[in-house]
Amino acid sequence: MGKVISVSNHKGGVGKTTSTLNIGAALSLDPKINKVLLIDFDPQGNLSRSLGITDLEFTIYGNLRGDYPIKPIEITKKLHLIPANEDLAASEIELSSETGREFFLKDLLENLRGNYDYILIDCPPSLGLLTVNALTASDEVYIPVKTEFLPVTGLKTLTDVIERLKKRINKNLKIGGIICTQFNMRRTLDKEVVDIIDQQFKDKVFETKIRNNVSLAEAPSVGKHIFTYSSASAGAEDYLNLTKEILARNQ
Ligand SMILES: Nc1ncnc2c1ncn2[C@@H]1O[C@H](COP(=O)(O)OP(=O)(O)OP(=O)(O)O)[C@@H](O)[C@H]1O
Ligand SMILES: [Mg+2]
Repeated sequence: MGKVISVSNHKGGVGKTTSTLNIGAALSLDPKINKVLLIDFDPQGNLSRSLGITDLEFTIYGNLRGDYPIKPIEITKKLHLIPANEDLAASEIELSSETGREFFLKDLLENLRGNYDYILIDCPPSLGLLTVNALTASDEVYIPVKTEFLPVTGLKTLTDVIERLKKRINKNLKIGGIICTQFNMRRTLDKEVVDIIDQQFKDKVFETKIRNNVSLAEAPSVGKHIFTYSSASAGAEDYLNLTKEILARNQ
């Protein structure tokens, strides 16, 4: 039974998509892992675009509507994607009047879970119904945090939502980890922010910090993850180490 992990933070630009993509890729490259599924659950469609998938005929939006069954795209034999585009924005409104509106994604994944070791969901930068569906479908949530002051102050809103969801809808949901991203070790501020995050989330915080690395920002523009774009980059090193931690936590 695969583990379902949402990558979520309502703050924009903190590294959700970059982390989903490169953790997913690193997991798929591990010999112990059979298959990984990535779900683009953001109407911006950045995860799909980052893998060079545009011009979409079948998306998660159509799956949520029940227009056609799920048929993941094989990026590689071990790395699959359910893509999204701006159509998905309509789901926030369309689902809102449905009974059991929080459970649509969970129900869709029920039959897929057996096929994958890991299912990673790239959430949009909001706490609306799409994010609630992702968190309802998940065993764990990973929270990427950019190591600057403002994103840290917003974390309480997210953890409150997670707590409420745990009480009412998904009692098994856990914060699986905090990922410090776009870390600049030469800046005092970044280190201070990491200290604050450590105090608040203790051993939930992954030891590996994802450094600022231009290759991570360049790779999506050519439709590649970091391990095919620049396997010797600091970005590749960091996401590989982070994924080792993830595998160790899940042993
Ligand atoms: N470690 C890093 N070093 C350099 N650039 C990065 C790094 N991580 C992410 N970026 C860049 O920062 C921008 C935001 O990252 P990303 O798209 O992953 O964030 P996001 O949280 O998914 O954003 P959104 O909220 O819009 O979905 C992107 O241009 C990305 O390429
Ligand atoms: Mg994103």
